[in-house]
Amino acid sequence: MKKTLIYAHRGASKLAPENTMPAYQLASESGADGIEIDVQLTKDRIPVLIHDENVRRTTNGTGFVQEYTLDYIKKLDAGSWFSTKFSDCSIVTLEEFLCWFKFKPMVLNVELKTNVIEYKEIENIVYEALAKHRMLNRTVISSFNLNSITRMHEINPNVQTAFLTSTKRQNLAKFAKENGSTSLHVKYRLLDKKLLKNCRRNDMSLRVYTINRPSYMEKCFNLGCDGIFTDVPHEAVEYRKKFQKVSEQL
Ligand code: G3P
Ligand code: CA
Repeated sequence: MKKTLIYAHRGASKLAPENTMPAYQLASESGADGIEIDVQLTKDRIPVLIHDENVRRTTNGTGFVQEYTLDYIKKLDAGSWFSTKFSDCSIVTLEEFLCWFKFKPMVLNVELKTNVIEYKEIENIVYEALAKHRMLNRTVISSFNLNSITRMHEINPNVQTAFLTSTKRQNLAKFAKENGSTSLHVKYRLLDKKLLKNCRRNDMSLRVYTINRPSYMEKCFNLGCDGIFTDVPHEAVEYRKKFQKVSEQL
């Protein structure tokens, strides 16, 4: 059976503040196969890695990312909310991340956070950054917003894309494929044999979020999902080793 890849969700986000360099560094040290990052645009249209549209939850600031220039965004403390140990963390730009990540033997998932704010040109901006760093062949670009997927597919039909969803619908795999998606990224509760079979029938990969419990990991590994997103990549890597050993003995 094909190995289920482990993506560190926002980095190793249980151990360090999400989407910061320590979280990414710990993810790389955990033995995870990949990292998932969230992208929003600043007022001066610089892609930055932060999950929420508003900086309130994960920094010492308030207001929307799109209201501030990168210069201002960079001055925010993006670590103290998690622990004072991380008070020197700032919001990371996509450029800074790629300069570091491109030397790591890992795969990447870039989530375009366009489901609340449809940042103009974000697809082109992110595509150009990935192309510049020669990352397109090991990156899947995902979004809850199907328009982003379709736009990315139009920019380059060979790019790997994933429609993200937590909503059940008939013929989900076929629907995503028809809109330019090469993979599906689904919430765990949507996962079943039938969905996986439909993905296979449509030649699509299936990855599942957010998988932190061993019992959920086991189901994903057992079914042979292509990937999982987890806040605890170090635990998932250990669990996958144990799971593989047991499967070999059967
Ligand atoms: O890409 C999987 C997952 O990250 C999607 O949900 O809210 O954690 O970005 P969220
Ligand atoms: Ca995400």
